[in-house]
Amino acid sequence: MQLEDIETIAVLGAGNMGHGIAEVAALAGYDVRLRDIKEEFVQSGYEDIEWSLNKMAEKDTITQEEADAALESVTPLVDMAEAVGDADVIIEAVPEQMEIKEDVYEEVEESAPDHAIFATNTSSLSITDLSEVSERPEQFCGMHFFNPPIRMQLVEVINGEHTSEETIEVVEDLAEDFGKTPVRVRKDSPGFIVNRILVPLMNEACWMLSEDVATVEEIDSTTKYHMGLPMGTFELADMTGIDISYHVLDYMNDVLGDEYEPAPIMEEKVEAEELGQKTGKGFYDYEDGDGADVP
Ligand code: 3HC
Repeated sequence: MQLEDIETIAVLGAGNMGHGIAEVAALAGYDVRLRDIKEEFVQSGYEDIEWSLNKMAEKDTITQEEADAALESVTPLVDMAEAVGDADVIIEAVPEQMEIKEDVYEEVEESAPDHAIFATNTSSLSITDLSEVSERPEQFCGMHFFNPPIRMQLVEVINGEHTSEETIEVVEDLAEDFGKTPVRVRKDSPGFIVNRILVPLMNEACWMLSEDVATVEEIDSTTKYHMGLPMGTFELADMTGIDISYHVLDYMNDVLGDEYEPAPIMEEKVEAEELGQKTGKGFYDYEDGDGADVP
């Protein structure tokens, strides 16, 4: 398959990453099927896309006509067969649990066309292992977007052991057509490139917090204002979801060793369901407090 053959893209999972990826694909002119397991989930993802497109139109980043056309090209769906039945590319962005992914892949394979490329937005699991759950390991790769997809330029395109060169090249072309910059990750390795660098940074910040080296705000102030990163480390963890960072770290700890041991406070936050912006509380309070207010 070549880029020119791609017309329809199915995005599975309408959460933060899924709806953001669907929005990016729609703005690039593709016919997009956004699918989740419940009507309320898919509707909420669709409304988030609408909000974001209108916000960009208000700011003249795009025209209102472009925003309307992009929204028009997104079909929210619950039925898997309808979502993937005529898809040329399927991008999976469902929760990071192997059992959930296995069930989804089984359903996909019942209805997806043989030629379709299957890409996963996983931030933690092995591309090779996931490709072996699908029935098309050569047409399977990682396509890892960053939060928020509409604003973040980078897409990691990751080789699994079975991925064909043709698949990788088409997905790189697709990422470029989305207006993004693809970077190839040649070997399937925990955390790929970005999370292998970024998540230990968040973990180290958590260890320092537990050791009373500095407060959340003080640590964030150094990363945001003095190290030149766009957000504080804790602010970023709250935006991406503390559970996501924790799962990446836990996996890196299993595969790569003790130096990646998650700080207990991270696990405590996950157990307390204080996952960041999406639950109203993480390292900062988004309900009663003002959210991140880094001095
Ligand atoms: N669509 C449209 N508008 C949006 C939006 C969206 N999805 N999200 C926010 N906005 C709007 C806000 O409402 C706000 O609007 P307002 O000015 O009217 O209040 C405005 O955008 C804020 O934009 P600014 O350009 O003023 O803000 P920033 O310059 O701070 O940029 C940012 C925001 C792009 C998020 C920047 O802070 C940033 O780059 N942060 C780092 C993000 C990052 O590192 N992400 C990667 C995380 S790792 C990951 O995702 C991997 C995973 O596997 C864990």
